[in-house]
Amino acid sequence: MKKIYLDHAATTPLNPLAYEKMKPFLSDLYGNPSSVHELGASTKKAINEARRKISDLLNCKPSELFFTSGGTEATNWAILGYADKNPNHREIIVSKIEHHATLHTCQYLEKKGYKIHYLDVNHEGFIDLKDLENKMNSNTLMVSIIWGNNEIGTIQNIEEIQKICRNHHVILHVDAVQMVGIQKIDLKELSFDLMSLSAHKFYGPKGIGLLYKKDGLVIENLIHGGMQEKGNRSGTENVLGIIGLVEAFEQSCKSTETYKKHLHELSSDLYYRLKEKLPSIRLNGPEIGSNRLPGVLSLSFDHIRSFDLAFALDKEHIYVSTGSACNATDIKPSHVLRAIDQTRILQTGTIRISFGIQNRLDENEYIAQKIIDCYIQNKE
Ligand SMILES: Cc1ncc(COP(=O)(O)O)c(C=O)c1O
Repeated sequence: MKKIYLDHAATTPLNPLAYEKMKPFLSDLYGNPSSVHELGASTKKAINEARRKISDLLNCKPSELFFTSGGTEATNWAILGYADKNPNHREIIVSKIEHHATLHTCQYLEKKGYKIHYLDVNHEGFIDLKDLENKMNSNTLMVSIIWGNNEIGTIQNIEEIQKICRNHHVILHVDAVQMVGIQKIDLKELSFDLMSLSAHKFYGPKGIGLLYKKDGLVIENLIHGGMQEKGNRSGTENVLGIIGLVEAFEQSCKSTETYKKHLHELSSDLYYRLKEKLPSIRLNGPEIGSNRLPGVLSLSFDHIRSFDLAFALDKEHIYVSTGSACNATDIKPSHVLRAIDQTRILQTGTIRISFGIQNRLDENEYIAQKIIDCYIQNKE
């Protein structure tokens, strides 16, 4: 039976070119980049070249980029590190639909006495720019915003958000984890202060990410130890991961337009097929085609539990995610779904379908039929 992976917002398979580039670092090139000998020097050189290459692609300086263990660490570091260096400013502004990497970091600071402003979003997941501006005051430490939402696909108007922050002299951290391959990221133009990326969302390896920190901005270290990354982020470098991240990033940059088009075709085709047969389904987030991650479809179905639908599809070897935070005793809609709709969401089950490079349009008829069958069989 064929397996169809539709969970690319959770993680993506490794790009074969990244895999090829990584291979020597799994065998012959095993030197510790901090070692003084030739073997160490060769991995150090590879890291330096990788950093230079990605800085060219992001249009920033190599010294503004720091490799981390992923998006979660980068975001923790951005928020906690900046808070630590600026103890006199104790208010942070985020949206209600941030990833948990941001929300849980903010909740940690809340316990330490910080005031966190959680911006409401409209039914499509957009923040209100006036509301953002109104929440700013002389005590504001920073704003942290998710650019492309991993659950419902909303792409915030980040240029306007950046302008508001700049006008108020407040720094902006951007969670850009879902944006690589979707939008060219030119940091000179965008002028973010801090930005998090994660390789496994753009066909790179897991456990490696990046924090961009604008020159001149000072943040406290999160991880202390052997002074790697010029003393900013200790721990022996994940050489393999860094090489894979940069190759995957380069490949993503090369194919942004075709990739976006491919994802848009797949998701709009599937959505309209389903909508024709099941008119009551609801697309969460922005309308198809407008300011949304083109490969992400969050769909709500009446009178079914998210988990039951996702589990039924899993038995058919179709892999999607649920829109719920579930454990054995507690099944409730995610914080993102609750933020966009307080009323209807409780009677519906939501799944997130997220397409990727290897999905094909000619599979959509089969996928749509399986979703409809699983829905009808499991509906309460
Ligand atoms: C928008 C967003 N931010 C942050 C993260 C965390 O990244 P990582 O898995 O690399 O820690 C994710 C991953 O799910 C994400 O989708």
